[in-house]
Amino acid sequence: MMKTFDAVDVIRHKRDGGELTPEEIDWIIDAYTRGDVGEEQMAAMAMAIFLNGMTRAEIGRWTLAMINSGERMDFSSLPRRTADKHSTGGVGDKITLPLAPLVAAFDVAVPQLSGRGLGHTGGTLDKLESIPGWRANLSNQEVVDMLAGPGCVICAAGSGLAPADKKLYALRDITSTVDCIPLISTSIMSKKIAEGTDSLVLDVKVGSGAFMKDLDKARELARTMVDLGTDHGVKTSALLTDMSTPLGLTVGNALEVRESVEVLAGGGPADVVELTVELAREMLTAAGKPDADVEAALKDGRAMDRWREMIIAQDGDPDAPLPVAKDTHDVVAERDGYLTRLDALSVGVASWRLGAGRARAGEDVQAVAGIELHAKPGDKVVKGQPLMTLHTATPERFERALQTLEGGYDISDEKPAERASVVLDRIS
Ligand code: URA
Repeated sequence: MMKTFDAVDVIRHKRDGGELTPEEIDWIIDAYTRGDVGEEQMAAMAMAIFLNGMTRAEIGRWTLAMINSGERMDFSSLPRRTADKHSTGGVGDKITLPLAPLVAAFDVAVPQLSGRGLGHTGGTLDKLESIPGWRANLSNQEVVDMLAGPGCVICAAGSGLAPADKKLYALRDITSTVDCIPLISTSIMSKKIAEGTDSLVLDVKVGSGAFMKDLDKARELARTMVDLGTDHGVKTSALLTDMSTPLGLTVGNALEVRESVEVLAGGGPADVVELTVELAREMLTAAGKPDADVEAALKDGRAMDRWREMIIAQDGDPDAPLPVAKDTHDVVAERDGYLTRLDALSVGVASWRLGAGRARAGEDVQAVAGIELHAKPGDKVVKGQPLMTLHTATPERFERALQTLEGGYDISDEKPAERASVVLDRIS
C-alpha cells in the first residue's frame, strides 16, 4: 500500500528547501497522474523545484516514479541491440532523420520515439508528416515489427509511456518551469528509460537556440542525465553541441526533410553531416560497433535504402514531391562583408511565426513554412544578395517574422574565427 500525504504538506516541504522523501515523491507523481493532485498544486510544486533544485537522490526517485506512472517497452525479443539518441531541441535540428537509418544500416536497431515541436524548436514528427501518407502513430507491436524489419522507427511515443511526464511537461510549458535541470533531466530520462533502449546518446544543445544558453549549465544537464541513465542500466553518453546558430541551411518541416534526404544521398551541409556522423559513431560504439564506416554508408546508399524502407513501412511515399510554399520573401544583405553572427533563436522564432511551429499544443503546423538560409557565419556576402528566404502559406505572417529577424544577424568587415567543430564536448 502506498503511503498517502496531504499535497499542501509535500509542496511546503519542497518550498522550504527540504529534500522530498521517496514516499512523498512516489505519492505525488501517482496522485497527480490519477488527477487527485490538481494542476495548480503540481504547478506550485514545479515552481518550488525550479527555485530550490533537487538532490541526486530526489532526481533518481522522481524519474523512477514517472517511469512507474506508465508502461515499459520491451525490446528483449529482438535479435539486434538497440541504440537511441535524444536531442534537447534546437533550430534546424533534423539530425534524427538521417541518423536513425544510418545507424540501422549497421544492424543496430534504433527506436526513435519522438515528439512534436512547441515554441521555437521544431518537432521531428511535424517534419516527417510533410511526407505524403506518413503515419506517426504506431502500436507497440508495430514499433517492435519496425525494429525487426527496417531496423529503425521514428514515431510518436505512445500514451502509455511516462504519462506523468506528458501532463507535467504541458503544465511546465505554461508555468515557465521548463528550463530547470532537475525537471528537464527527469522528463527526458523517464521516457528514455521506459522505452527500454540498451544505450542512449544525448545531444545536449548549447547556445541561444537551446534551453541551456551556456556551456557550464549544459554540462551539468548532460552529467545529470548520463548519471540517471547509468544508474538505471542504460549505457548513456552525451555530446554537447553548438546551437548558437541554426544547424544546416533549412529550418521548417518540409524544408528540413528535403535537407535530410540530401544528407542520405551523400550530400548536404557540412555541419549536418558532421553531427550525423559523430552521433552515429557514438551510438555504434555504445552498441559494440566502434569500427563501422558511417561515412561510407551515407555515400553508397545503404542509409538511404533503410530510410526508404522505414518511410514506406509507415505508409509514406519517399518519392512523392514534398510540399512547397507559394509565397516566399528574401531577406537581403544591406552591405558587403562577412556574416559574423546568425542567431539561432531569432531564426527559430521567425520560422515558428511563419507557421512552422505552434503557439498552443494541438494546433496544426504548416508543412511548407520555414526559412532557407543562403549564408552561414563566416561566409562572405555582397550587398543585395539574399541571406535567407522566408517560406509560408500565409503571407500576412511575413511582417512579424521579419521583425523577429531584426538584430538577429551581423555583417562586418572582419572575417570571424572559424568554428572548429559543432561538437563542443563529450560526457560519458
Ligand atoms: N524535452 C523533454 O522531453 N522534456 C523536457 O523537459 C525538455 C525537453
